[in-house]
Amino acid sequence: MLQKSGFSLCLSKAFGVGEDAVAIPHANFTKNKDKHIIASNISLVLPKFLIQVGSKNKLKRFNENESFKNVFQPTREELIDNNFELKGHWNSIFFKNNNPLVLELGCGKGEYSIGLAQKYPDKNFIGIDIKGARFWRGAKTALEEHIPNVAFLRTQIELIDHAFAENEVDEIWITFPDPQIKYKRTKHRMTNSEFLKRYKFILKPEGVVNLKTDSEFMHGYTLGLLQGEGHEILYANHDVYKQEGSPEEVTSIQTYYESQYLEQNKPITYIRFKIKQ
Ligand SMILES: C[S@@+](CC[C@H](N)C(=O)[O-])C[C@H]1O[C@@H](n2cnc3c(N)ncnc32)[C@H](O)[C@@H]1O
Repeated sequence: MLQKSGFSLCLSKAFGVGEDAVAIPHANFTKNKDKHIIASNISLVLPKFLIQVGSKNKLKRFNENESFKNVFQPTREELIDNNFELKGHWNSIFFKNNNPLVLELGCGKGEYSIGLAQKYPDKNFIGIDIKGARFWRGAKTALEEHIPNVAFLRTQIELIDHAFAENEVDEIWITFPDPQIKYKRTKHRMTNSEFLKRYKFILKPEGVVNLKTDSEFMHGYTLGLLQGEGHEILYANHDVYKQEGSPEEVTSIQTYYESQYLEQNKPITYIRFKIKQ
């Protein structure tokens, strides 16, 4: 919740946008050698109406998600208490077929899930993210364009083994995850050992995981961890658009974040691996 603090009031006056502005407190304060306080990273002073429009849009999206038949938003309690009826029954209850089930973790707006679903109509796809206002875009596109083989699930990836049963999933895509570079954020890194254990539980023994990232750190960390723990690296590429041999589905679909990184000429990396049984 954004609130107007004394600090933001000063900023909004300083920027000449008056009382109808909200500064997002994004500043770092440090002392220089003369012990003067220096503020840095003061990045955003937004007129209030823009923030109100932003939250109204979010509310609208949350409401629409409730009515979308391809969106599922179980509560944490439902998942942990094993009361989520789709767990173990995604194919029979929702997709109504027996096709391979593929997940995209941290799907954002869902471009990858939608792109893969269009490319592979004989597979079922589920985009998963904690931010419903983001995957609203993918869910709406799927409904408007009548793409029946894709759904969206709002949950934390930490609870993935409560949303899917053992051996229910054929393949996982992790697309541009936050690299969580700081050591104390290691537990949130989506390819750490704990996450791999959860993926192993829900994946079939032959199941594979795909990681696509712009982060050299994430790429290197994951390769090191896979080698160290003895998992099977099926393919690795440190620049999928420049180095030959990338699978077609890696270069033909771009996510929102990916297109931004490509504009900055950042190399996009890819790893495909199997988790040791
Ligand atoms: C950097 S964005 C990438 C989004 C999308 N894959 C893309 O490439 O445009 C990372 C996404 O992961 C989601 N995310 C991060 N940690 C998560 C978690 N623990 N559980 C669920 N979603 C998570 C965020 O909400 C965000 O949408």
